[in-house]
Amino acid sequence: MCDADGRPLPGNVGKGADGDLHRGDGGAGAVSAQLELDWHGGRPAARLRRRWPGVDALPWGSLAAAPIDDALAAAARASWTDGAFSEYASAAAFSALTQALLEAGAPVDLTAMAADFVVDELVHVELAARVAAELGGAAPYQVDLERLAPVTAPGLPAIERAAELALRISCVGEALSVPVLAGSTRAAAHPLTRAVLARIVRDERPHADLGWLVLDWCGDRVDRARLGGVAARALASYAPLWQDGAGGDAPAAHRGLAGWMTADGLRRTLRRAVAVDVVAPLAARGIVVAPRDEVPAAS
Ligand SMILES: [Fe+2]
Ligand SMILES: [Fe+2]
Repeated sequence: MCDADGRPLPGNVGKGADGDLHRGDGGAGAVSAQLELDWHGGRPAARLRRRWPGVDALPWGSLAAAPIDDALAAAARASWTDGAFSEYASAAAFSALTQALLEAGAPVDLTAMAADFVVDELVHVELAARVAAELGGAAPYQVDLERLAPVTAPGLPAIERAAELALRISCVGEALSVPVLAGSTRAAAHPLTRAVLARIVRDERPHADLGWLVLDWCGDRVDRARLGGVAARALASYAPLWQDGAGGDAPAAHRGLAGWMTADGLRRTLRRAVAVDVVAPLAARGIVVAPRDEVPAAS
């Protein structure tokens, strides 16, 4: 997700940049409302903690106790609210991928990996939302949750849908998120924001790897030329994040609370990730990303 200046936020890079995810954009049939996240407690919460441990060990309360001026807190709340939504959208994306893998008869353990990541992302939602809460609560944020899940062209067989979703969600979106989150962790100046980002980036690396496992399982049973077009469109939609002149540096105090890299560092990180972590491994699998001016070529 990006803020109004096009800066990526602490969740995942660019979720929704290709129109997959919807922030109450007013399109036909759109029904947007303030993002509200609820927590049940009791047995569901206890089960989540048992199976996804470690969250309670983070230094909760330390940010709420820190002296932060109102303007800075408001900006950071907006960042972490956007991050929470980005993670929520990632849960919907892995859920859609899981369904496509089930319909394609994919290996059970591979499908379980995608399903597992849905819960990873829901834990990330909790983490980002709790940081926002420590800063004073969620910022205003209009979303249309009924249009959240990524869609593919109607009529595609399940294996093509699985390959396309794996490519867009993991091979592009998550692959670009990982180095940015690592940089964000280094940029985070507060122990809580640094700990939360470190936990998220630890989980995200396997999220990127899943895409390659799915594509390798699909092998030559999918249309690689079509997937090359899918990849080119997905990458192009993120290009504003790495093009020269995209976004300026926020004040250092804001970057520290939001976990933002410098604008120049972000551009260099993303351009390298596109070439090394996306375009090259796709090419190794016979999926050639059509050359586009805005997409860095494989090095
Ligand atoms: Fe995540
Ligand atoms: Fe992820």
